[in-house]
Amino acid sequence: MSRGADIHLKGVSKRFDNGLRALDRVDLDLRAGEFVSIVGPSGCGKSTLLRIVAGLVASSTGTCERPADVETAFVFQEAALLPWRNVERNAQLLMELEGHPPDERRARAAEALALVGLAGFEKSYPHHLSGGMRMRLSLARALALRPGLLLLDEPLAAVDELTRDILQEELSALWRQAGFTAVLVTHNVHEAVFLSDRVVVMSPRPGRIVDVVDVPFAFPRAPELRASPEFARLTGEVTAALRRPIPA
Ligand SMILES: Nc1ncnc2c1ncn2[C@@H]1O[C@H](COP(=O)(O)OP(=O)(O)OP(=O)(O)O)[C@@H](O)[C@H]1O
Ligand SMILES: [Mg+2]
Repeated sequence: MSRGADIHLKGVSKRFDNGLRALDRVDLDLRAGEFVSIVGPSGCGKSTLLRIVAGLVASSTGTCERPADVETAFVFQEAALLPWRNVERNAQLLMELEGHPPDERRARAAEALALVGLAGFEKSYPHHLSGGMRMRLSLARALALRPGLLLLDEPLAAVDELTRDILQEELSALWRQAGFTAVLVTHNVHEAVFLSDRVVVMSPRPGRIVDVVDVPFAFPRAPELRASPEFARLTGEVTAALRRPIPA
């Protein structure tokens, strides 16, 4: 059963208090259970858009319709772990903040750690983990909330390329299994195409949507897909959209 959330952004613009225009009339419908990536130049408003989708920041104009009760979890580029807490206590952190009872926290943390391949590392501390393992832990902490909406802001930007490919495959499997709606911000066009149903391409600031590229490959996607001509064609399409001059 899908626990994903339908979300509708209509005419979303964002102007910060200092006058800076970060987003310009963004229209985007996210369908329940879909995996959507957002690519665009640095500073174009991608993280701002994610925060608006999360309900953490209000748009200046336009609307973001989302179910009031959808559990939302965020994963950032920096794993943002607490160094004095071991793996299982880090995995429980968000549930603690939300007031889940201890038994439930322990059970859900154990389940999420097993899902991301960290079973057996419960008593380890973050400084003993590799970058990839820290990111798995950050993901487990988010998954333990059983989110209907998972927002990922460049989560794999800091890991090496091989680990990154493997984590992409793991993330895709977790998403298919859990059924949440996923929105991923990434600078990596290959990553966006490999993981997504659709890739949203944004212009330089103030960010506007300049293209939405549908990715027709069925799931699960094999690692070899990355070497196929069709994959190259789609990454080429996204890259071309990123480089296209913006009409005034
Ligand atoms: N609270 C704020 N007040 C003022 N300006 C802000 C605020 N938050 C972000 N900005 C500015 O808004 C613009 C968009 O920022 P945002 O972080 O959304 O971009 P981004 O696309 O995520 O960039 P990057 O790819 O570098 O992460 C940037 O110029 C940023 O400096
Ligand atoms: Mg950002």
